[in-house]
Amino acid sequence: MTQPFIAPSLLAADFANLQKELDLINRSEADYLHFDVMDGLFVPNISFGFPLLETAKKYCQKPLDVHLMIVQPERYLEAFAEGGASVIHVHYEACTHLHRTLSQIRELGCRAGVALNPHTPISVLEDVLEQIDVVLIMSVNPGFGGQTFIPHTIQKITKLKQLLTANRSAALIEVDGGVGEKNAPTLLNAGADILVAGNSVFRANDPLEAIRQLKNSRQP
Ligand code: DX5
Ligand code: ZN
Repeated sequence: MTQPFIAPSLLAADFANLQKELDLINRSEADYLHFDVMDGLFVPNISFGFPLLETAKKYCQKPLDVHLMIVQPERYLEAFAEGGASVIHVHYEACTHLHRTLSQIRELGCRAGVALNPHTPISVLEDVLEQIDVVLIMSVNPGFGGQTFIPHTIQKITKLKQLLTANRSAALIEVDGGVGEKNAPTLLNAGADILVAGNSVFRANDPLEAIRQLKNSRQP
């Protein structure tokens, strides 16, 4: 039974103790550090950018999974690649030339991710599947951590899995928003490969144990 990849979201970390939080991620079974960039335009919130990316790169040994919730993300791809991103996710809704943008991410040596808002159907990806390494399904409306999981996401994952299989695509399915030990088994069963978890990890009594539980949440 393959284990899912776990990507704790830095947005929920305690920034007053950042080095400690990153050290915890280093010691954990996490596979990535999820890095949420918000510009106050694409989403109604502003999070963090390059100074924090530099710190994360310096102290975190896990690959960085960068989620760009920004307009015109193509303007910053090079900077995020140089800053140490392993995966760069752009939003479908923010890209006029998605095919070109995804190709650019790969040319920069990163894995290309495309994120879909809850209202965006899977079908919009049909003609760009070959350019995608990861599909990031938003299970909340992006902009804030700690929101309630939208149940319709499960159907979307199932549909996406079918689309990928039918097209022999090796793209991975990542789910982001309101993910925790309760819904993890259902998400994995539907076809998810990577679970992003903010509050359910960093606000847990024992974050290391929370990550371990998510890592082992696939049911036979
Ligand atoms: C939401 C962000 C998420 C967020 C997840 O816009 O993209 O990555 O940090 O946080 P939780 O897991 O707390 O919903
Ligand atoms: Zn995110």
